[in-house]
Amino acid sequence: VMPRGVLIALAVPAALSVCAAAAAADAAAVSFSRDLVPVLRSQCAICHLTGQEPGQMALHPRAAYKSIVGAPSVEAPLARVKPGAPEESYLLRKIEGTHLDAGGNGERMPLAQAPLDAATIAKFRAWIAAGAPEN
Ligand code: HEC
Repeated sequence: VMPRGVLIALAVPAALSVCAAAAAADAAAVSFSRDLVPVLRSQCAICHLTGQEPGQMALHPRAAYKSIVGAPSVEAPLARVKPGAPEESYLLRKIEGTHLDAGGNGERMPLAQAPLDAATIAKFRAWIAAGAPEN
């Protein structure tokens, strides 16, 4: 029988490398146009259509990428999406509900709706972590 400490020492690195592999696979799998644009169109564009509404960004399919990637937030000292930096991406914080901790204000998005499901939020996070490609 192996001492407990040895077992943990063996098991933890193995578990971490499985997680890293899974995260990398998710990131590679997320496509902005296939996975995220439909969410923005159906859950967000009703209130963020022309860019003149509160929040000042158009999230319909043809405008969404330009409206968010590298674009400064009007509410917080962050970009809406900073490629490679999910924690510094205000849009992700708005859908996770952690925007107030980042110096933002207002409500969690989508406003007055149920939160996006965890799998969808994870796709936004993975896509940003992967550099927010226009794919
Ligand atoms: C029912 C209307 C409504 C819906 C639906 C909605 N929003 Fe908003 N959004 C607002 C309003 C109003 C504001 C400004 C006030 C606030 O932040 O609470 C805002 C602000 C924002 C901001 C801040 C913009 C900036 O530059 O700081 C982001 C990011 C945002 N929304 C993302 C989203 C996303 C992503 C969705 C879809 C998942 C969404 N919103 C759905 C009404 C809505």
